[in-house]
Amino acid sequence: MTIEQHPGPATVRAVFERAARAPSLHNSQPWRWRWDGSTAELLVNAERLLPATDMFNREGVLACGVMLHHADLAWAAAGWESRVSRFPDPSVRAHVASLEPRNPHPPGEAELLLGRAVDARYSDRMPMEPPPEWTTTPRVLEFLGDRSQTKVVALDAAGVGELGRISQLTGRLRRYDPRYGTEMAWWTAGPEHGDAGVPADARPSAADRAQVPVGREFPAGTAAPAEAGGADAARVVVLCTDGDAAADLLDCGYALSAILIECTTQGLSTCTVSHITELPAARTMLAELVGLPHPQVLVRIGTARTPPPPRTPRLPLDRILAGETGQGSGRAGGGEAG
Ligand SMILES: Cc1cc2nc3c(=O)[nH]c(=O)nc-3n(C[C@H](O)[C@H](O)[C@H](O)COP(=O)(O)O)c2cc1C
Repeated sequence: MTIEQHPGPATVRAVFERAARAPSLHNSQPWRWRWDGSTAELLVNAERLLPATDMFNREGVLACGVMLHHADLAWAAAGWESRVSRFPDPSVRAHVASLEPRNPHPPGEAELLLGRAVDARYSDRMPMEPPPEWTTTPRVLEFLGDRSQTKVVALDAAGVGELGRISQLTGRLRRYDPRYGTEMAWWTAGPEHGDAGVPADARPSAADRAQVPVGREFPAGTAAPAEAGGADAARVVVLCTDGDAAADLLDCGYALSAILIECTTQGLSTCTVSHITELPAARTMLAELVGLPHPQVLVRIGTARTPPPPRTPRLPLDRILAGETGQGSGRAGGGEAG
């Protein structure tokens, strides 16, 4: 006879606190967890989607895939296996996954390493030095993508140059989209969104920003300037799926997280890039560049020129975790997309 064991409230809270370091578009954190004492349900939070920037809500689901993988790693580092089922209830579209921690055991070295990488990862928007070992790293990233039905295409230097031109086109088109501008202004406004958004100290100055042609155009920030000058030498990988269904996006987010965390364990800097896949015209050009029809998201990968900025904020745990956790008001339970 096996005795079922479930984690206690303190463990549940510690695990989700760590998982909440997951990155999301503009640090919007479009997710909620519901814990029933043995299983956690992950839901898209429709109140935190960005309709002007992410007009097809692809990045909202993608970010939930990132969160799912972060939770998986956080549970593993705490010594629990995760049994995950994706879209367990087809009648509730917002319920993207359920995760049941089981089989408690002492965590291994790899699990602890990946857990620490969850804490250490950040988005580096500064120009970077090239990544060393770029012959082997793309193979590892392709492997991680394959495990989640996601193709990872590493661009060569000419490809990155072309990407810079597509990025520039995106910036010019977005100038004529006041709703996009309003959303950008809101999520970068600063202290009034103290628990979300992209703070000024995580955004480069205009001069450093100009050195990164493939980056999104954020308002100039106050990040410490790069000591060594020169244009960005980061490499870029493009994550592509077979389709644009929610299941593809959840898988792609899971793969994105695995790639960001793997790079972090290698001491590499990363920055997720998505403005190019948001606009259909630019996305079509990117699809032609990589020769695959559904590019979803890109990652710049390199060696940091500057120390990490202060940690970006996150919502208090009780805003994203509801249920039997021994604390909290359960506010995170309602309002999700249907
Ligand atoms: C789906 C997705 C899209 C993102 N798009 C961009 C982007 O286009 N440009 C950028 O600089 N950061 C982008 N990010 C990174 C977020 O802005 C970042 O994760 C968030 O602000 C939290 O900061 P952190 O990564 O330093 O923890 C994206 C992240 C995700 C998951």
